Amino acid sequence: MKVGVFIPIGNNGWLLSETAPQYKPTFELNKQITLEAEHYGLDFVLSMIKLRGFGGKTEFWDHNLESFTLMAGLAAVTTKIKLYATAASLVMPPAIVARMASTIDSISNGRFGVNLVTGWQRPEYSQMGMWPGDAFFGTRYEYLTEYVQVLRELWGKGQSDFKGQHFQMDDCRLSPRPQGEMKVICAGSSDAGMAFSARHADYNFCFGKGLNTPKAFAPAAERLIEATEKTGRHVSTYVLMMVIADETDEAARAKWEHYKAGADQEAIAWMGQQGAADTKSGTDTNVRQMTDPTSAVNINMGTLVGSYASVARMLDEMAEVPGTEGVLLTFDDFVQGVHNFGERIQPLMASRVCADTPVPSRARAALAAAA
Ligand SMILES: Cc1cc2nc3c(=O)[nH]c(=O)nc-3n(C[C@H](O)[C@H](O)[C@H](O)COP(=O)(O)O)c2cc1C
Repeated sequence: MKVGVFIPIGNNGWLLSETAPQYKPTFELNKQITLEAEHYGLDFVLSMIKLRGFGGKTEFWDHNLESFTLMAGLAAVTTKIKLYATAASLVMPPAIVARMASTIDSISNGRFGVNLVTGWQRPEYSQMGMWPGDAFFGTRYEYLTEYVQVLRELWGKGQSDFKGQHFQMDDCRLSPRPQGEMKVICAGSSDAGMAFSARHADYNFCFGKGLNTPKAFAPAAERLIEATEKTGRHVSTYVLMMVIADETDEAARAKWEHYKAGADQEAIAWMGQQGAADTKSGTDTNVRQMTDPTSAVNINMGTLVGSYASVARMLDEMAEVPGTEGVLLTFDDFVQGVHNFGERIQPLMASRVCADTPVPSRARAALAAAA
């Protein structure tokens, strides 16, 4: 199974809590995490785009770097790991995104790809006068369909005359082109989003679900399989999960309860209002499910809480779900979390042990003892 890290481009990562680690996003922090991930043979890092935070006592996501420029910096200091930036398609013209991607492809020597998002939070765009009106909630993926066609034409043949409702190219050019096929991620979970992924993306990222229910995302993977049966394309599922691990199940559980006790209710309430503003996408989308009070403290992300061995076992279970190719991990503390993943969790994962995965000596001893 492939493993990636959703690096903390925004403050405090994915925990809306006063009792979770408090930190600002910096290049140095993201570089440290990415180099550690690369060291342990992880496959990729992805950064999101977020243009407006949720406020509250923790000023949640009020502090965010920009995704492409961050990944360009990381491309220059890494050699193996793949890098994905997120394009805010509403405010970044496709011809510019195509050229930025070509540039980072050059910096990284072919290790770069793009996550395409439509945007679901009106204030991110209305604050700069670029929200097209709430009807956009219902037409987001039609817009993105035109957008990706322009990208694919420019990356594929260096030229586009695409004429659509939203984009009109006039002998638009791109050179240099990326050295290989540029990979596209979409994280759509509505029917329209899944249909888009099945038709145009290489990977569909979905939210994991629940607490220590590693296979609860399976219906999303199944929906993607059904959608790709209609398009005949191969698109794999990657699952977003938070890992909170420690020496014992009890110690990990205590951390999770501690974070929940400090939940930033003001920021959570704001997030709920934003999700509810979309009345057009249907009830199937994760955006609408973000008000679930049980784990709103981490944006209702699927969460694996336990000892290193328990987390390794649950990650292995995820790998068994048909259509699943990888996981995208977040941590309560990313620096320690990625380190512990590399030292203590990965070596115990049957779905990860391979020839080129470094096996730390301590974990080797644990494996030998278990055998
Ligand atoms: C792994 C992952 C990364 C995402 N990154 C972003 C992002 O950077 N910016 C954003 O506005 N939305 C982001 N989203 C939200 C999705 O693009 C998508 O809008 C959401 O999953 C709801 O699906 P829908 O658009 O089909 O309704 C992300 C979702 C996931 C699961």
